[in-house]
Amino acid sequence: HLEKSIRPFIDLIDTLRSVGIHKDLALPTIAVIGDQSSGKSSVLEALSGVALPRGSGMVTRCPLELRLKKVTGGVSWKAVISYRDKKTEFVHSSLVERHVETAQNELAGKGVGICDELITLEVMSPDVCDLTLIDLPGIARVPVPGQPEDIENQIKSLITKFIEKQETINLVVVPCNTDIATTEALKMAQEVDPEGRRTIAILTKPDLIDRGTEKDILAIVHNKVIPLHKGYIMVKCRGQQQIDEKIPLEEATQIERDFFQNHDHFRCLLNEDKATIKCLAVKLTQNLVDHIKKSLPQLTEQIKTQLWEVKNELKECEAGPPLDTKGAKQFLIKILTRFNGQIYSLSSGELINAENL
Ligand code: GDP
Ligand code: NA
Ligand code: MG
Repeated sequence: HLEKSIRPFIDLIDTLRSVGIHKDLALPTIAVIGDQSSGKSSVLEALSGVALPRGSGMVTRCPLELRLKKVTGGVSWKAVISYRDKKTEFVHSSLVERHVETAQNELAGKGVGICDELITLEVMSPDVCDLTLIDLPGIARVPVPGQPEDIENQIKSLITKFIEKQETINLVVVPCNTDIATTEALKMAQEVDPEGRRTIAILTKPDLIDRGTEKDILAIVHNKVIPLHKGYIMVKCRGQQQIDEKIPLEEATQIERDFFQNHDHFRCLLNEDKATIKCLAVKLTQNLVDHIKKSLPQLTEQIKTQLWEVKNELKECEAGPPLDTKGAKQFLIKILTRFNGQIYSLSSGELINAENL
């Protein structure tokens, strides 16, 4: 089954990330970008089963890395949130919003400011799929009181930092009921990825379109307007009313399926694997695995080089100290100097993740 064949790859990347290798090597990630209220949090929520802070304003103010891990046996739900040198574990999914808000307030200050420091939220549950996603602040054009005049540029440059990396798969969230071709997030993704090789567009809110625009939207999904190598996928998430009515996610999944099955124009997308959250999850995971497979040779090369260097160092030590006093002294000084250098670099803040080693 698909899940079995992908798990080792995702584990590998998560392990590398947890020991801090991403500071030296760029590891594949999926970044979620879009205009404010385009439905990013809804998509992430539907994919993850994790209720993230959401609302009509600027809710996501720091990049949030959401690491989903499918676990079986015992654990029903567990999360660890980490930022700066803090790490907190909790077992109630209802606490996610509070923890993320606290983290954001600490990093970006209370209010409406943004910050480019990363918050990591690791969620372990039997009900999630194996994905690592980064949620980014939505693009806001008009500053609200308390925001700097250049908030749009600040957000865009923060987003660009993530999406320009060749190793990032960009998930662009665009509502169906807007002019898709002029969407800012799609433009940004196109700028950093002109051929659309690592961009997937997700069209949200298909239930809110203007009647009569169905054919135009289908043309977009069928890649005929703005061709993207990885294409489009349409999803229907819970609207505000369904959220207020507390319709559970499982029920929303069924409602989504029914919506497409009963839709005169969009029904065909089900057979083409271009609709539903479930289909998106499978597509994303496959993309991530392909991406990781492609970066493996490069990782192998870098690891080989490092291994070679360490082996050489080891060889010097293996020979042991020279027997004459002068030689032994010099040997000792050399070893101590090197040790001192290592201690120094360890204590200069680089090894916050040491506990994971
Ligand atoms: P974000 O700002 O991009 O994170 O957007 P949200 O996920 O918070 O969504 C903004 C609003 O759109 C919320 O009220 C959602 O309930 C609503 N919404 C999201 N997706 C859909 C959809 O597929 N259909 C409908 N009707 N509403 C949606
Ligand atoms: Na929002
Ligand atoms: Mg949001």
